[in-house]
Amino acid sequence: MDVTAAGPRRLTIRNVAERAQVSLGTVSNVLNRPEMVAPATRARVRAVMDELGFVRNTAAHQLRMGNSRSVSVVVHDVSNSFFTEAIRGIEDVTNDNGYVVIVSSSDASAEREKRCLRLVEEQRVLGVIITPADKDLGHLVRLQEHGTRVILLDRHGPGGGFCSVAVDDVRGGELAAAHLFSQGHRRIAMVNGPTEIRQCADRRRGVRRAARRAGFDPDTAILDVPVAALSAAGGQGAVARVLAGSPAPTGVVCANDMAAMGVLRGLREAGVRVPDDISVVGYDDIDFAAMLSPSLTSVRQPKYELGASAARLLLEEVSDATHTHREVRFDPELVVRSSSAPASDRTASAKPDSVSTNGTSRSRRTGVSRTGA
Ligand code: RIB
Repeated sequence: MDVTAAGPRRLTIRNVAERAQVSLGTVSNVLNRPEMVAPATRARVRAVMDELGFVRNTAAHQLRMGNSRSVSVVVHDVSNSFFTEAIRGIEDVTNDNGYVVIVSSSDASAEREKRCLRLVEEQRVLGVIITPADKDLGHLVRLQEHGTRVILLDRHGPGGGFCSVAVDDVRGGELAAAHLFSQGHRRIAMVNGPTEIRQCADRRRGVRRAARRAGFDPDTAILDVPVAALSAAGGQGAVARVLAGSPAPTGVVCANDMAAMGVLRGLREAGVRVPDDISVVGYDDIDFAAMLSPSLTSVRQPKYELGASAARLLLEEVSDATHTHREVRFDPELVVRSSSAPASDRTASAKPDSVSTNGTSRSRRTGVSRTGA
């Protein structure tokens, strides 16, 4: 193989044509319109391709034909298991239809997201499935107007301008906080990301709605503990402010499980027992939630299905001329585990009411399932 400073020189159809002693047009026909080439010539050209290890440059072909086989996915943080599971749903649907996925993390930064999208637009991808970093979607409208299909993941758009898939995060925040208030907690902390992020704003609205519905003033029943990033480090760094609350909260709602894992670690390092001294509730119900000790009570999002639904919407938008944009909404579900217990009974860890054969049973309230984990 011919190697240059820039790396191995890619084989081109010119290399194949010279070795097979045919024209460039004949090699192009073997690739794109094989029925137009005499069988003997077609066989000889293909034998040379195999001998040289030639791989066609589909990107160039697709750019010319305008039908890329790649799908861009832009999420906040690919290392967050919520997005990892959603991306797997996207991959399974798109791969089954002959597409490859290109993933980028925006770190929930509007600037970084815009840089990602500039690169994506150059690739002429089939479309972008994106969890927006910012409330303002103007740049996505322009991207769509320039011909790139845009599907919103984990976010609904304004006035039907996009297909979108998301959970009702206001309801999700309400489930988390109502669970603690129903257990006798009267003062809870909320470890939350920037409310510029729609999910964080909606979950906070839900937590405050739960306080009002429980008969409390949200401003006194809830201690807001903002963090710059909904990460384990962000959660761990929030613990000192949670414990400094006056009056001290006896429960903590975390806007996602990554932050909740950090809160659990910080509480353990501070010698605070969960749930004996303080209850903790997460959000997403990622795989690790059930494996933690204590296992994490969390608001479950259908992560894989969110991704698969977004991918199906994109493929429908590509293939169906009558397609109209629509919003797909999922309901959140509270999964009660060992990290939360009644405020009055912190000396005894909560026991599941009952555990059915599959390890879960549904409590009397809708949207709440109790697991034996
Ligand atoms: O990106 C932060 C959070 O928003 C994720 O953990 C998930 O909950 C998403 O909805």
